[in-house]
Formats: sequence, structure tokens, C-alpha cells
Amino acid sequence: MHENFSLKSFNTFGVDANARYFTEVNSVEELIKTLKRSNSQTFPLLFLGGGSNILLTRDFDGLAIQLHLKGISEEIINENEVLVTAKAGENWHELVLFCLNKNYGGLENLSLIPGNVGTSPMQNIGAYGTEIKDVFANCKVLNLETLEIENFNLEQCRFGYRDSIFKQEGKGKYVILEVTFRLTRKNHLIKTEYGAIKTELEILGIENPTIQDISKAVINIRQSKLPDPKVIGNAGSFFKNPTIPLLKFEDLKQKFSTIQGYPNGNSVKVPAGWLIEQCGWKGKQIGNVASHQLQSLVIINATGNATGKEIFDFSAMIIDSVKEKFGIELEREVNIV
Ligand code: EPU
Repeated sequence: MHENFSLKSFNTFGVDANARYFTEVNSVEELIKTLKRSNSQTFPLLFLGGGSNILLTRDFDGLAIQLHLKGISEEIINENEVLVTAKAGENWHELVLFCLNKNYGGLENLSLIPGNVGTSPMQNIGAYGTEIKDVFANCKVLNLETLEIENFNLEQCRFGYRDSIFKQEGKGKYVILEVTFRLTRKNHLIKTEYGAIKTELEILGIENPTIQDISKAVINIRQSKLPDPKVIGNAGSFFKNPTIPLLKFEDLKQKFSTIQGYPNGNSVKVPAGWLIEQCGWKGKQIGNVASHQLQSLVIINATGNATGKEIFDFSAMIIDSVKEKFGIELEREVNIV
């Protein structure tokens, strides 16, 4: 156990905040032992995965636990399907590569998403036409109250857009230990409907893409516009794309003819990146913090010296100006600690 431990290398924003106590656990048994010990001290707990979706706005006055649970296993179901199980501490993209190497289909559109497997169900990670709910079989979690291991199936996770039970009524109650995905061994479902993928495949001169080609296209797209957290601190999209009533969208369309939207029944999902750009934030820097010049939805630690509070205040300014111009309240996607 470390005391007053810097979490700078444990969050992809690269924010230098301290945890009062820090420890790493390498097995579920170790985790349970640590929790039993700390329970008696009633400390707040912070579970760290890949650190790619948190913003530390202050020092953490409790025990931060890095989940270093490793291992990937597979179970062939039949000639078409395989179940792949990865422990929480596996790097997400390493899992995608493992599956591509074995020619298991389903995760390729989710290539290069930063973070670890354990946090992927929390916000139902998604990109380029796929969300993990599309391939999710189940996950094992530790109930923090009973310290019993429980199983959550697809339905129980109540996945929504960047949402799950683990962000709602299950928040703070469970630690995800491992996740199982149902993947294809042949006749893969090739998903190219997301516009940028088609364009990228054309550039690559690929007509009948394999899952490996899709992954390559996604990697190219991501690298062309999303900053690499190893180089510039960031946590991917900082806000969710807001969903607004169709009537409101039609109203806005009158005023802002270039507004884009993806209708879904009586509501429309609007790209937050567009709204933020229209408010003049794209590429804008204040102090140590900026909105990324190629994707304004991504807030970056531009100098490497930003505090979490500065990043939070910057995001509040964006929320205010989008609210003022469009009457839409952006919601943060990143977990604020
Ligand atoms: N746009 C702008 N200006 C910007 C950014 C975007 O006008 O500064 C417009 C684009 O032109 C495009 C639309 O907004 O027409 C959507 O942009 P993009 O394709 O980049 O996707 P996004 O909606 O901004 C979402 C996810 C990303 C994911 C991409 C691709 C959310 C909050 N974000 O971004 O996820 O990679 O789609 O599927 O849903 C993440 O969650 O961390 C993340 C990176």
C-alpha cells in the first residue's frame, strides 16, 4: 500500500492528483482481502482501470485500487461462434488484436479505443457503428456489499447509449472482474455503414473487406483525428451526443440550416462536436486546456500541466455556451472524481 501516491500515470488526461492510499491487486482474492481490510476503515474507494474515462478534479482522500486482473480465455461454442472472456485489467485494444489474430469477428469496429476491458460495459463503449452490447454475453462482478461474485447477463446490464446499470442504480456497488463476448468464427457481420469507414476502405482500395480490413480502416480514421492519449492527455469524447425532441430539432434546423441529426423515433441525436464547433471552441485553448483542433468533442491537456479543475472549468464554459446558443444542455461522458 502506498501513501500520497500520484495518479498521473493512471489517468489518460495525465492530471497530477494524489490518492491518499494506493494499491494494485493482481487477483480477485487479493481484491477481496484488500476490501475486507479497508472496510473496517470506511474509506471511500476508487477503482482504476485504464484511466481513460476519468477526470480527477482534486486529490482523492481514500483508497485507489488499480485492477491488474489479467487473462484471456476462449470457449468454442460451435462452428460459428466462440465465447471470449477477458479479465478486467486486460487492455481493450490488446483484446481486439487477440480476436483479430484468431479471426474472431465482432470487436473490429471498436479497434484502438483506449482503456481496459473492465470498464467497457460501464458505458457500453461504442464507435463506428458498434457498441459492446452487440457482442456482449455476460460479465462477472464483485458485489461490494456482500463481497460475493455475481453474474450479469445482457438484459441485466441495461445497456443504452454510453450507459448501463453500472452508471445508474448499480453505481459504486460493483466491480467488474471479467467480461465475456460472443463472437463469430465465420460469416462475420461486416459493418461498414458508418460513413467514414466506407470512405476509408475506398482510399485503401478494398472492396470486400475482412474484419482485419475494418480494423485497419477504423485505426486509420481514429489516428487521423483523435489525439493519442500517450502523446496528448485526453479522455476521448468528453461529452455525450445529446438527444433532443424532433420538434426542437426542426426548430433549430430553421435557424441553423447545417445542423446534423440522427433521428430515432420522436427524438434526434445531435453531434455534440458540431454544436461545440459552432460555438467557436474548436482548437481553442485557455491556459493549459484546449478543445482538440480536429475533433472539438475531445478536450485535451494541451500543455501537459493542466489540473483536473482547469479541465472541468473549461468543460463548464463549453456547456454554458452550447446552452446559450442552442438551448441544449450537454452532459459529460467522462466520470468526474
Ligand atoms: N463534427 C463537427 N465538428 C467537430 C466534430 C464533429 O462538425 O469538431 C461533426 C462531424 O463532421 C460528423 C459528426 O459531428 O458529421 C460526428 O462526428 P464523429 O464521426 O467524429 O463522431 P462523434 O459523434 O463526434 C462518436 C463517439 C466517439 C466515436 C465516434 C465514431 C460519442 C460521445 N462519441 O463521436 O466515441 O469514436 O462517434 O463512432 O458518442 C468516445 O466515446 O470517447 C469516442 C471517441
